[in-house]
Amino acid sequence: MPRYARWAERLAGIERLGRTRTLRTLEPTGPVTGRLDGRDVLVACSNDYLGLGTLPLAGRSGSGGSRLISGNHPEHGRLERALASWLERDVLLFPSGWHANVAVFSTVCTADQRVASDALNHASVIDGLRLSRAQRIVVPHLDPSAVPDSVDLIALEGLYSMDGDIAPLASYPRGPWLAVDEAHSIGCLGSGGRGVAASQGVSPDVLVGTFGKAFGSTGAFVAGPPELIALLVNAARSFIFTTSAPPGLLAVLADRLATIAAADDLRDRLAHNAATLRRHLADLGWTVLGDAHILPVLTGRETMEVADRLLRAGVFAPGIRHPTVPVGLERVRLTVSAAHTDIHLERIAEAFGPA
Ligand SMILES: Cc1ncc(COP(=O)(O)O)c(C=O)c1O
Repeated sequence: MPRYARWAERLAGIERLGRTRTLRTLEPTGPVTGRLDGRDVLVACSNDYLGLGTLPLAGRSGSGGSRLISGNHPEHGRLERALASWLERDVLLFPSGWHANVAVFSTVCTADQRVASDALNHASVIDGLRLSRAQRIVVPHLDPSAVPDSVDLIALEGLYSMDGDIAPLASYPRGPWLAVDEAHSIGCLGSGGRGVAASQGVSPDVLVGTFGKAFGSTGAFVAGPPELIALLVNAARSFIFTTSAPPGLLAVLADRLATIAAADDLRDRLAHNAATLRRHLADLGWTVLGDAHILPVLTGRETMEVADRLLRAGVFAPGIRHPTVPVGLERVRLTVSAAHTDIHLERIAEAFGPA
């Protein structure tokens, strides 16, 4: 048998189901424009919500190790202190949101506990919970009344990445610990960009924020009480056994935080762009889910055809099919950025055409 026959067989199985994924190369030419496999496109699917991702990086490129060995640089402390004073709770940095969620759920939850996890939570939340061996009770999406009694923790996102809707955090039971992943909302929503929980006057026990979206970069943080931060430093395997972020990146992120905290103009523009594109698409007869800058446009079984049509018109946004979303809820997932102009938004709507 050829050495890699088992891998090839599994790939063939994925292909038979029509679920093959391929990497496409997008070469940016501006905040929301690029060349996709050689074709000029307007990008309508980036998470660079405030348009800050084009700013250059400089400085030292390597940290030299894990933070508990040789990789703890003064820039780590500087960024953590700045985030802590912004959010008024302690903060620990992680190399990515994936590392952060796996750390939180695999460390905070234990095998004797029950966790209510929203049906649309991100894969990194699910994997963290699997590692914890806690009993995971999947509750219907954004239905606080479905949370069973006697759970130890409720896991939610602030703004959901696939449905684009905002969690009514204050309506969930107050007894269990509350963990909120604000990956898509930090920097974009709430006063000073502090996220959905802050905008609802809710103080979660665990807050996860990422730098890969509104911060226009990469990395993440966990914010919470001192006991949480110390426990993660001592027991979270995806903190302990990984190389820390490079100092050059951390310095850029600290400046970026100062920009974001003061960027009400960008947040206003983002909200304006989301509302404008929603209005254009509704006028054309499309059903658009969600509440904010993520706009899932329901396209039914034609999703891939609609996405291809958009691309031919020079607009890049992915079609999302079953099994990622339920049958009947296939969609093109649009995201807007503060960097889109009114003309860009009209071009996106024109590319859709009438529903
Ligand atoms: C809701 C949510 N949480 C966590 C992550 C993971 O963050 P990162 O891309 O920084 O690993 C993502 C991903 O993109 C996400 O959408």
